[in-house]
Amino acid sequence: MLLDIENLSLSIQAKGHTNKILDSVSLAVAAGEVVGLVGESGSGKSTTARAVLRLHPEGAQVTGRIQVAGISVLPGTDRDLKRVRSSEAAMIHQDPRAAFNPVRRIGDSLTERLVQVLRADRGEAHAKGLALLEAVGIRQPDRRMRQYPHELSGGMLQRVMIAAALTSDPKLLLADEATSALDVTTQAEVLAILRDLQQERDLGVLFITHDLHLAAAYCDRVYVMYRGCLVEELAGTDLFIAARHEYTKKLLSAVPTITARPSTTEATA
Ligand SMILES: Nc1ncnc2c1ncn2[C@@H]1O[C@H](COP(=O)(O)OP(=O)(O)OP(=O)(O)O)[C@@H](O)[C@H]1O
Ligand SMILES: [Mg+2]
Repeated sequence: MLLDIENLSLSIQAKGHTNKILDSVSLAVAAGEVVGLVGESGSGKSTTARAVLRLHPEGAQVTGRIQVAGISVLPGTDRDLKRVRSSEAAMIHQDPRAAFNPVRRIGDSLTERLVQVLRADRGEAHAKGLALLEAVGIRQPDRRMRQYPHELSGGMLQRVMIAAALTSDPKLLLADEATSALDVTTQAEVLAILRDLQQERDLGVLFITHDLHLAAAYCDRVYVMYRGCLVEELAGTDLFIAARHEYTKKLLSAVPTITARPSTTEATA
């Protein structure tokens, strides 16, 4: 299994009491598989994904077992963690603007990463950076490399973030609401690129989303999280038809559907 999480529990001490954030979470992602993680805000989705790179909240007490491509991250040595971070798993964060240094050119951030990861010289790293930007559908990559984050649209910056995640040629992508901040058209474009890359490279993806329709359409399997526990696991195609757990049904019934167009002219008249 590419990603194997077993009985992951995480708690934080706050003002004399213990706040349990994850409770015996067990999940798996195989190579080439897209696995959704859905659940309400605060249920622990990001905490789970971040734990894979051992990015725990400060002061967290963590128990359980996490393996990436057979390498143990939890428990694990710093050396193994570095190996996983530099060549096995990468994370795409929700907010691309927060992920880039605003005063550095896109190309400098990308090339520096490639120099570190590939141990390549700057010329080679620059060429690989251009190729990666092209792979995520960015035209005129040379020009984009010279620009600063604020000069790029949200969708373009999100593509650059996917390119940055691919610099280490990872086997596992942790996509935390990777397209949620984008408008619908840009989201569809970025998702298509992500899907192409996933298939070309046989990537395993942990795909965190609030959007249940998207999870059903995009993911092979979906885990449903509720208050730090995984309460259900379903095939993506079964999400809307076979959910058994009460919480999943509630979550699904909260999804807005378009049945009749509200008569806005009457309402505002
Ligand atoms: N650094 C931290 N210190 C204390 N509590 C934290 C920390 N990070 C997360 N939490 C708490 O852990 C719980 C789970 O948070 P998490 O961010 O994993 O949820 P989520 O499912 O990703 O939510 P969202 O859909 O809003 O992104 C929340 O109650 C949150 O307040
Ligand atoms: Mg989150």
